[in-house]
Amino acid sequence: MAILITGGAGYIGSHACVELLNTGYELVVLDNFSNSKPEVLSRIKEITGKNFTFYEVDLLSKEAIDSIFSRHDINAVIHFAGYKAVGESVCEPLKYYHNNITGTLNLCDVMNKHGVHDLVFSSSATVYGIPHQIPITEDFPLGATNPYGRTKQMIEEILRDLYVSDKRWSVALLRYFNPIGAHESGRIGEDPNGIPNNLMPYISQVAAGKLEQLNVFGDDYETVDGTGVRDYIHVVDLAKGHLKALERVLLTTGVDAYNLGSGFGHSVLEMVDAFEQASGQEIPYVIKDRRPGDVGICFADTQKANQNLNWVAEKTLTDMCKDTWKWQSNNPAGYTKTQDHVTSIQLAP
Ligand code: NAD
Ligand code: UFG
Repeated sequence: MAILITGGAGYIGSHACVELLNTGYELVVLDNFSNSKPEVLSRIKEITGKNFTFYEVDLLSKEAIDSIFSRHDINAVIHFAGYKAVGESVCEPLKYYHNNITGTLNLCDVMNKHGVHDLVFSSSATVYGIPHQIPITEDFPLGATNPYGRTKQMIEEILRDLYVSDKRWSVALLRYFNPIGAHESGRIGEDPNGIPNNLMPYISQVAAGKLEQLNVFGDDYETVDGTGVRDYIHVVDLAKGHLKALERVLLTTGVDAYNLGSGFGHSVLEMVDAFEQASGQEIPYVIKDRRPGDVGICFADTQKANQNLNWVAEKTLTDMCKDTWKWQSNNPAGYTKTQDHVTSIQLAP
């Protein structure tokens, strides 16, 4: 009996693999490395001392997914694989709809064929669009404002329709808020391509001297200091949330959405201050105009996940900053090896 992890070489997936392996799960991992590097796989093995099977497979190849299910006794899936850059999704919507939605349709079709109906899905707080009330509860109306967010919203609806059609399905829709941080070992972390779009990787590259200064997008929001407020969650806490969600989908049926956040909001300038204290590095910044599409304030009501999943985010903002800095300073160029000796079985497309 194994758990299939799609997108397991990515930022959140790799941290989830570590937690699952440490808990004793047998894993089968697939990724096409479109936004990750093979080196992460040996680092997961190094941290955990555990092995797992890896397939370099694209979810757009239904035959390849089918072949994995034929080779392994899979009893549940945690589905991270997908594209996630908001700006790129606006410029290339078809790429996003195709990869995220067709990939998920293929996966669900193959799961159904092999009698596997337990699924944990990576959704996002982005499905709430512009929040009309704070904190955000799961029953808020959805209204994603960009193609990336709409892929998540559509997939949520597809998964709900699946359950209506077949009551064996058991699905957790995990709506992540702002994942940051890295594993405490400093061996795995977020490795964005090019100049980061998100706040934390940008701050850490300024601290490392790779970028000159942080652009703070707006200081005229109705927040504590005028800068944008978000709910940052340590990626290891987030990974642990997947374990709890997995336990629940294995025991129940139905479709449920859960906010995974800390339940607290922090402004951009509070993040700068916390990072400076944790790293001992100065973060020069300049105030710029608001970033189009940004909301002023967004944080989660996490009661449903606390109660139904018996999960709570435990790590502090200091942990998030310290672990980000350890990852950044130990791996200034991210994952650098171009080749890696991982057990990878190439499947025919
Ligand atoms: P990531 O890009 O680091 O990881 C995603 C992984 O999926 C990558 O390794 C990529 O190579 C792989 N992948 C993409 N398309 C694939 C395909 N067709 N077939 C096989 N593999 C494929 O992203 P992440 O930050 O780890 O996010 C994981 C999931 O969580 C994504 O679905 C993302 O949309 C969602 N999410 C992320 C955030 C965030 O801020 N990081 C917030 C909310 C939701
Ligand atoms: N910010 C800056 N400067 C930067 C980057 C960000 O001031 O260089 C500010 C933003 O304006 C915002 C805050 O920092 O106020 C956080 O911005 P991020 O880009 O880190 O995160 P977002 O909340 O905008 O979006 C992220 C992901 C989305 C996801 C959402 C909720 O990029 O995909 O979290 O999960 F949907």
